[in-house]
This record gives sequence, structure tokens and C-alpha cells, in this order.
Amino acid sequence: MKSRKALVAGNWKMNADIVSNEHLFTSLRSGLERTSMAHVEIVVCPPFPYLGQAIAWLSDTGVAVGAQNVSASPNGALTGEVSAAMIADLGCAWVIVGHSERRTLCGESDADVAAKVAAALGQGLNVIACVGESLAEREQGHTEAVLTRQVDAFAAAIAGPGGERLVVAYEPVWAIGTGRSASSEMAQDTHRFIRARLARHGAEAADKARILYGGSVKPSNASSLFSMPDIDGGLIGGASLVADDFLNICQAAAAA
Ligand code: 13P
Repeated sequence: MKSRKALVAGNWKMNADIVSNEHLFTSLRSGLERTSMAHVEIVVCPPFPYLGQAIAWLSDTGVAVGAQNVSASPNGALTGEVSAAMIADLGCAWVIVGHSERRTLCGESDADVAAKVAAALGQGLNVIACVGESLAEREQGHTEAVLTRQVDAFAAAIAGPGGERLVVAYEPVWAIGTGRSASSEMAQDTHRFIRARLARHGAEAADKARILYGGSVKPSNASSLFSMPDIDGGLIGGASLVADDFLNICQAAAAA
């Protein structure tokens, strides 16, 4: 058993509606009643309109709820934005920051991601900060340079107030939604590299920090990935929308 408690978070992305959510919550609840998940922390991150529904349906299951994005600003004339205080006010404990889809589709910069991490930690939220290289960056041998830039933007936060609530997710862009996961060994090497970057701000904090792998995690590859010493769980996209798959992945993390 690893010293860091395993964490599995489901990132639903922009997939949900009230009725299908009810089915998913019901299946998750009955699955959790059948199986002990004492050794894994579980989070689901539906789109904003369904956060309240998720909190209501999951309140007594031990599953926490998170948002998929947050504004770096506390309030103001920012149409369409949602602050960290609002997310916390609703009863969410978690937020995902800097997902590659937001970096590429919404133009989020490393500085934006760092500001969001600070805003969310400042409101007492647990943060999953995402990093990861594109296929072209990997093929050109730039993986470590890209990760250094992305991780260093927010890494100092692990040694600051609430730093123990900061989780990093390594999601190679080429593995997201493609069915092509990184091999466990490749992911482990990268996770070790990320932990070393964090350690520049405090060896003990870095040792305690959880680093999740994301990108085509399925029940079939979860155990192998989670058995690696620096892989502390997963950030799950597509498979988090299928109750049995998500529960199997949570179980693999609990057993790792
Ligand atoms: P998939 O699991 O669908 O590849 O998505 C991973 C992801 O982007 C989670 O944030």
C-alpha cells in the first residue's frame, strides 16, 4: 500500500443531462454499497449546471463533487464565469484547472492556470491541475521542456497555504480520448519527473503530493498504471460516464 491515498476523479467534460445523470448516480451508489472503497478517494466532475444535482445524489456516498473550471477572479463583470467562492459555496470540494482542452480550445496560458490554482486553493478547494505534452511535442523530444514550463507555473503553491490540497494530473494530449494510453513505464517516468519539479519547492510536500495519470484509462489498463510508484490514481474521461467502468477503475486504485 502506498503512503499517498489513491484518488480517482471522473471528468465528464460536456456530457450530461438530468435523466442520464440520475441513472449514473444510481448505478454508482449501488456499486459503492457492494464494494468497499476505503482505500480510494473518489470525485466526479460534471458540467456546472449539474453540480447541485451531483451533490444532492451523492451526499451520503463518500463521493466528492468537483467543477471542471474556475475563474481566477473573485467577482465582477465577467459574464459566464464562475468563481472559486461560488463553487465552494455550492458544496463542491474540488476543481479541475488547466485541462488541455481548455488550454488549446480556450487559450488558457500557464499564467492563467497558476492564477486559477491560487484562487481555488485560497477558497479551500482541492485542485487538480492538469499538464501534458502534445504528440508533436513528444515526437520532437520536448516533453520535459513542456512539462517543466507547465508545472513550474504553479509548483510553488505546494509549499504555500493549502498546498496539501494541490493534486497534479499528467495527461498526455495524444492519449486523451484516443484509446491510446501511455504505457505504465512511460507514465511512471514522467510522473517521477513531475515530482522532481515539485520537490524544488519542498521535498516533503512533493513526496506527499498526489500525481494522477489521465488519458484513455480503462478497467483493462488501470491496475498496471496505478501499480507504478509515482502514479497515485487517475483522471478519467470517457470511462467515468460508464458506471461499471468507473467503479472498476476506482477498485483498481483502491487495490494498488
Ligand atoms: P479519456 O479518459 O476519455 O481519454 O479523457 C481523459 C481526460 O481528458 C480526463 O480529463
